[in-house]
Amino acid sequence: MASSHRHYSTRLGGLASLGLALLLPLTVPCSDPHTDGLPKGKLNTSGSDSWAVVNISLLQDFWCQPASRLPREQLSSLIRSLALLQVPLKAWQLSCLANLAARLSLQEDFALHPPSLLLFYNLSQVKESNCRAFMQHAAQGDTGLLANLPDQRIALQHTALACLGGPRQQLSASDLGLLGILVCDMDASRIVTADPSVLQNLLRCPQLSATQRAALNTLLASGRTQLGPPGSWNLEGLQALGTLATYISPNLWEKVEEAVGLDLFCSMVAACREGRLSQCDARRFVTSFLESKANSASLRPKRGTGGSCIRGNITAATLHDDLFLVHYDCTQLESCLSTRVLRANLNPLLQHPLPAECQRVIKTKLAQIYPHGIPEDQLRLITSLVYLYSGAEIDQWNITTGDTVVALLASDVALENQTEAVLQKFLDHRGKVTGALLVAIGGSRICWMSPQQIQTIQPSEFRLAGALDISSCPQSRKNVLFAKAREAFCCNRTTGAYYRFMRPYLGGAPLEELRHLAQANVSMDIDTFTNLNPLVLQNLSVGSVTNLLGQNVGDLQKARSHPTIRSWLRSLNRSALDELGLDTSPTQASTTSGPPSTTRRTPHLAHTSGMSGIGTAAPASGSPPVHLGYLPLTVALPSSLLWLLLCQAPSGPVGTAQKVPGPWTLPPALHQGDRAHGHQIQERRSC
Ligand SMILES: *[C@@H]1O[C@H](CO)[C@@H](O)[C@H](O)[C@H]1NC(C)=O
Ligand SMILES: *[C@@H]1O[C@H](CO)[C@@H](O)[C@H](O)[C@H]1NC(C)=O
Ligand SMILES: *[C@@H]1O[C@H](CO)[C@@H](O)[C@H](O)[C@H]1NC(C)=O
Ligand SMILES: *[C@@H]1O[C@H](CO)[C@@H](O)[C@H](O)[C@H]1NC(C)=O
Ligand SMILES: *[C@@H]1O[C@H](CO)[C@@H](O)[C@H](O)[C@H]1NC(C)=O
Ligand SMILES: *[C@@H]1O[C@H](CO)[C@@H](O)[C@H](O)[C@H]1NC(C)=O
Ligand SMILES: *[C@@H]1O[C@H](CO)[C@@H](O)[C@H](O)[C@H]1NC(C)=O
Ligand SMILES: *[C@@H]1O[C@H](CO)[C@@H](O)[C@H](O)[C@H]1NC(C)=O
Ligand SMILES: *[C@@H]1O[C@H](CO)[C@@H](O)[C@H](O)[C@H]1NC(C)=O
Ligand SMILES: *[C@@H]1O[C@H](CO)[C@@H](O)[C@H](O)[C@H]1NC(C)=O
Repeated sequence: MASSHRHYSTRLGGLASLGLALLLPLTVPCSDPHTDGLPKGKLNTSGSDSWAVVNISLLQDFWCQPASRLPREQLSSLIRSLALLQVPLKAWQLSCLANLAARLSLQEDFALHPPSLLLFYNLSQVKESNCRAFMQHAAQGDTGLLANLPDQRIALQHTALACLGGPRQQLSASDLGLLGILVCDMDASRIVTADPSVLQNLLRCPQLSATQRAALNTLLASGRTQLGPPGSWNLEGLQALGTLATYISPNLWEKVEEAVGLDLFCSMVAACREGRLSQCDARRFVTSFLESKANSASLRPKRGTGGSCIRGNITAATLHDDLFLVHYDCTQLESCLSTRVLRANLNPLLQHPLPAECQRVIKTKLAQIYPHGIPEDQLRLITSLVYLYSGAEIDQWNITTGDTVVALLASDVALENQTEAVLQKFLDHRGKVTGALLVAIGGSRICWMSPQQIQTIQPSEFRLAGALDISSCPQSRKNVLFAKAREAFCCNRTTGAYYRFMRPYLGGAPLEELRHLAQANVSMDIDTFTNLNPLVLQNLSVGSVTNLLGQNVGDLQKARSHPTIRSWLRSLNRSALDELGLDTSPTQASTTSGPPSTTRRTPHLAHTSGMSGIGTAAPASGSPPVHLGYLPLTVALPSSLLWLLLCQAPSGPVGTAQKVPGPWTLPPALHQGDRAHGHQIQERRSC
């Protein structure tokens, strides 16, 4: 047991350092460098600072209940520590922390607070005099954290535009500097008319919508940007675009000098191979670029030349050319790639960001080589193809080790419904689903395990897995997981401690459970509340909800357009609504800005901004990132505060449940990656 845990954790460490780029080419590059973990090597490693480094995981496990008992000065110092150490906090932590801060009038000190915390503050309390400073700091945060608070997200837009002094026809460079990431939520028509420095803002968007992509192309085609007209673009200019270059349309590529385009192609393929660019981004670029070349006779023969190989037999050397995909379209790939060369060069071939059509060609050839199923040692190489395999095909495979499971499922490529088939093969070979394995394949994968498979997980392993993000699970699975979590976390704890561990699983909680928690005054955060079962919520009275949310009840206002909240509010009569004191009219998107483009996405989207730019774009605006090395750590937490954060139980089953001692401890980046994982699964579908 122990050795298998240790094994995964080594693997995960490697993953964090891109060491596994070969095996898991898709997992690594999609993560945001800013939230990838905690700053390392920047703190004074002696004295009180070393305490902060080692105990940083405690800050990361920030929990509102104990913090709500802190006096003002200590809460203030805690919040500043979270900012200084850039502790990546999630929406459920930030939303309640913002209320604690507001209650003690700490909102005024916003400049020393984590930017993402500002996103959750009561915007009505932002004074006009420091409105710009507030927005500029807030715009350094991650607006994806507001996925479940759509009304707050819109209010943020309104406040930001109001700070600029009202509606604008055109956003100037200084406007854009203030707006930062907020531009990603704005109407695409604003991009076309904006100052060209809007490119810096767009670089921070985790994803561009179809209309934003079109606007980007219009802007680039206009020649107004620093790159000039497309005919004069050069490699440096294109590289400075970072991932934005992957959105350039085929039409536009046709206007770019061929040699420049090909140089960029090489650098993109190399960046993808080295893990600096996600396969998803690289494939988007390659597909668009090759489409522009499809009609260009100079680079490739017309399609439909039959089954004959014209470009020459593919060899190991051919595959090491970064322009391989320019020379061989999928038809030529089929004709010119022998099974012998494929078998010996599977890895270098799959390092290329192959269009889906070419991937299917390779799958067919692999079936010729291995008619009875792909051997286990080869499975680890075909991660990028896994999504093409059906349950019946997966049934032919032998999966005997957790490593193979991780290789197949930890990427963003495998589909949700392939999870069950892969894990079943593993279970059939007497494999065990351990906590470390669950974390390694991403918490949300558990949504796609069958109820029988979930039952095979030992409660102790479930505890070791810590808080899994199951917010994207279908309701039926949430119900099963709730029961499982109860089994793992129940019994002989205070309700506070019980709630702490059960919180991620309450989406499956029945009515009695929620009533019980309401009576215990747990002060549920709004993010968790939006993930409750909407049907169960229908049966909760206004009084119960008020008790359940406790000091967070005012946050209903920030989420009143969320489908779950909206349907609950609809079920209430006028007097009940008055009792809540809510303005239930939906937030009107102003005429000058569209509604956030992401509000209609599934709630788990965009919780981390998955930028992996290859350029060296400067931060869009505002103060430069804090470098801890140059700042005295004046706000090291008083130790009296620590035990509070430890949730009163540094020993015993509660204390050990999440903090696994020794070398199995998972790097924070991975706990934190759970949501990013779900995000990537979504992203793959859209590319
Ligand atoms: C690190 O901390 C120690 C003890 O607090 C202090 O003596 C030392 O000067 C610090 N070093 C730096 C580079 O700040
Ligand atoms: C981390 O915090 C715990 C709890 O206060 C403390 O016992 C421990 O010594 C701290 N670790 C370090 C390295 O200071
Ligand atoms: C290309 O490969 C085919 C089949 O493997 C072989 O018959 C043919 O001779 C090769 N052509 C060249 C030019 O090597
Ligand atoms: C799976 O294992 C069995 C028994 O060792 C073996 O006969 C079979 O060929 C293997 N299948 C594959 C696809 O590796
Ligand atoms: C998974 O689901 C997709 C669509 O929901 C379907 O097309 C595909 O065949 C399924 N794959 C498996 C392995 O069941
Ligand atoms: C609950 O805790 C008490 C005291 O800590 C202990 O005596 C009792 O055996 C525990 N009960 C269970 C079911 O673990
Ligand atoms: C919950 O809060 C209410 C009102 O403040 C109080 O009357 C009640 O005793 C509290 N319940 C618990 C279990 O603390
Ligand atoms: C809600 O209450 C109704 C009537 O009391 C009941 O029929 C229904 O099953 C309840 N729904 C849930 C999800 O608890
Ligand atoms: C936000 O602040 C305004 C102005 O101070 C206040 O009227 C409102 O009640 C606050 N909203 C919440 C949810 O606390
Ligand atoms: C509103 O609903 C509550 C409970 O749902 C009920 O007790 C109350 O009588 C209703 N008020 C009116 C005016 O219908």
